[in-house]
Amino acid sequence: MAKHILLTGDRPTGKLHLGHYLGSLKNRVAMQNSGDYESFVMIADMQALTDNANDPQKVHDSLLQVALDYLAVGLDPEKTTIFVQSQVPALSELTMYYLDLVNLGRLERNPTVKTEIKQKNFGDGVPAGFLIYPVSQAADITAFKADTVPVGDDQEPMLEQAREIVRTFNRTYNHDVLVEPKGVFAPKGQGRLPGLDGNAKMSKSLGNAIYLSDDADTMKQKVMQMYTDPNHIHVEDPGQVEGNTVFTYLDAFDPDTAKVAELKAQYQQGGLGDVKLKRYLNDVLESVFGPIRDRRAQYAKDPAAVLAMLKKGSDHARAVADQTLQEVRDAIGLNYFTHY
Ligand code: TRP
Repeated sequence: MAKHILLTGDRPTGKLHLGHYLGSLKNRVAMQNSGDYESFVMIADMQALTDNANDPQKVHDSLLQVALDYLAVGLDPEKTTIFVQSQVPALSELTMYYLDLVNLGRLERNPTVKTEIKQKNFGDGVPAGFLIYPVSQAADITAFKADTVPVGDDQEPMLEQAREIVRTFNRTYNHDVLVEPKGVFAPKGQGRLPGLDGNAKMSKSLGNAIYLSDDADTMKQKVMQMYTDPNHIHVEDPGQVEGNTVFTYLDAFDPDTAKVAELKAQYQQGGLGDVKLKRYLNDVLESVFGPIRDRRAQYAKDPAAVLAMLKKGSDHARAVADQTLQEVRDAIGLNYFTHY
């Protein structure tokens, strides 16, 4: 049986954090190692520019950081093609063709893009490239004929829009060239990591993130500041487990579920202090992220080797995407000179 094809990626606008890990990096590594997929992971620098056109340095600098994060969590260039979006020109040409198959109203209704436009206070000043980034994302996915896209659940509207574009394309040009992708998400209720402050989402812009690159002291400091139960003042006070960020993190990262259940019971009853609980969480996080941090530091010693890996990945990605582009041009009829 032919392998499934996996494509996914991230915008390089900073380093990746534990929310990214739980939401999709973990899945991507497991899927890579399953051997069931031909895997492509893309650093979406062009997409990052859609709302950072005046800060190209940030995008430039984040490229290496995101590549290091990928290698650190266990994406393996021997098994996964890791590449850079801007180095694959076919993606831009595909975007141009797909833009003719999507109307402006549909783009303006994309719920994730809508939320981002509000968050970023764009108003009427939204860059056209930002509004259409779901179309470019459809190009990223379809260029590799990917059927499987492991992402955070906020990306489902992008996949829905990509599927619509695939159907419209294949119908309009009467060729089954493109493949409909489906998302793969973290198990229900387990993919969203709250921020240190208890905010529903960990994010760079909210300043409530633990990064994969944080050193042991920084991580510990952040854990010790974490939001718990504001009414749990004294060790002997009964405390709340629901909405308590420390327990949410333990549920997410501690494989010893019996131990977590025991701690919850003790906390609710009274007699378990926040400091002790946070020290325990820190140990749990160390056991998961200590090795990742160490691996990251190893790779960071040789940036030239990381860039060479990205170049090799981009060369391979370019060849694959060019092949799809050829089929797309043929389907539309943009093959005037084939017989000359
Ligand atoms: N939109 C993704 C993000 O916000 C990045 C991305 C770009 C992507 N193209 C993709 C993800 C294709 C999956 C598939 O980080």
